[in-house]
Amino acid sequence: MQDVSERTGTALEESQVRASAGPPELNGFQRLTIDVSDTGTSMAPLELVSLGDGLDNVVSSTSRSFAAYRALETERPDALFQDHLAEYLAGAAVLEKQRAQLAEGKNPGVRFAVRTKYFDDALMSAVAEIKEATPDAKIQVVIFGCGMDARTWRLPEASSPDAPSPDAPSPDASSSDISAGTNSSAQIADAAPLVETVFEGDRPDVIKLKRQLLGELEGMGRLPPLRLARRRVMLPINLNDATWQDVLVEEGYRVSEPTVWLFEGLVMYLDPPAVIDLLESAARLSAPGSVMLVSGISDQAVTRGKQSASLVRRSWTWGCREPEAFFNAHGWHVRKVDDVTKGMFGRELPTTPGREPNLTWYLTAVKV
Ligand SMILES: C[S@@+](CC[C@H](N)C(=O)[O-])C[C@H]1O[C@@H](n2cnc3c(N)ncnc32)[C@H](O)[C@@H]1O
Repeated sequence: MQDVSERTGTALEESQVRASAGPPELNGFQRLTIDVSDTGTSMAPLELVSLGDGLDNVVSSTSRSFAAYRALETERPDALFQDHLAEYLAGAAVLEKQRAQLAEGKNPGVRFAVRTKYFDDALMSAVAEIKEATPDAKIQVVIFGCGMDARTWRLPEASSPDAPSPDAPSPDASSSDISAGTNSSAQIADAAPLVETVFEGDRPDVIKLKRQLLGELEGMGRLPPLRLARRRVMLPINLNDATWQDVLVEEGYRVSEPTVWLFEGLVMYLDPPAVIDLLESAARLSAPGSVMLVSGISDQAVTRGKQSASLVRRSWTWGCREPEAFFNAHGWHVRKVDDVTKGMFGRELPTTPGREPNLTWYLTAVKV
């Protein structure tokens, strides 16, 4: 049994492992003693910290860090998007830490604001393309590694050409979110949603917390109606375990309808065989015309991450420097790969002097 002491008052992205002596500054976090030499499951590579919010794994905790990045982006006068649920979903502790980093002139969130905007646009384009090709399709969106993603409420943004007309008829009010555990998740926006169902999958602890937080928002009357989809379904799943496919189908996924799969900030945390399973199984479950949207990093970045002081980077397990060949070999036809290492949307991404930045790619593939 290895005793690991962890100081975690910081945003977990930059958490430092401390094996040294001296009392850890807990700042509301619990100190855990765990066996990291034999965790017994790939689900928990670094069970080191607890935020006191039910997330006791650094990978799960990234879900709140990324919501905090979106909350801070939303406050900017030149914000790339508006995510008004992000502040609550991030939680005060994570948000405060990131505010402090901003005050020190650091802005690790800038690259993730770019990523959010990129996949907002990519998702809306994919939905529009499917709608044009098959107007009667009941489009499904599967967001795995959803974390605190609030796209089902946010998109399409009011200014978007894809935004439904306010005159469109209201959809069937009997449609409901059968798994969210919150009635207002089943509320229907005034305009007809573009998508039938959004499935949000993540680790069970993340889904549990997200349900709780959304329930709290609902209780305060702060949960708006769904915009993107008629129905939102949350799936507590471990994507390192192939049973996710059964769960998805049991919860109403239809293999006959086209799907947009979105894996944003996910695949770098999966076991390499699980990534192959994810792509091939998703391809098998996808009607022609379905689209897959994925963000990833290179294998060199994963290797480099193992030497990092950041627990998040140390928990990366999969990277690929030739994503086009990889996805083409596992059931998909790659349409484009964007290298966003240096930035996009007029935002330059921060670099470390003297260090080559990690390759970051965003990929769009289709099922033919
Ligand atoms: C960096 S966060 C990204 C969250 C969200 N996509 C976003 O951009 O805000 C990575 C997410 O992947 C989830 N994840 C990592 N490994 C997973 C696994 N084996 N099964 C299910 N979800 C996983 C984490 O719990 C976390 O919510």
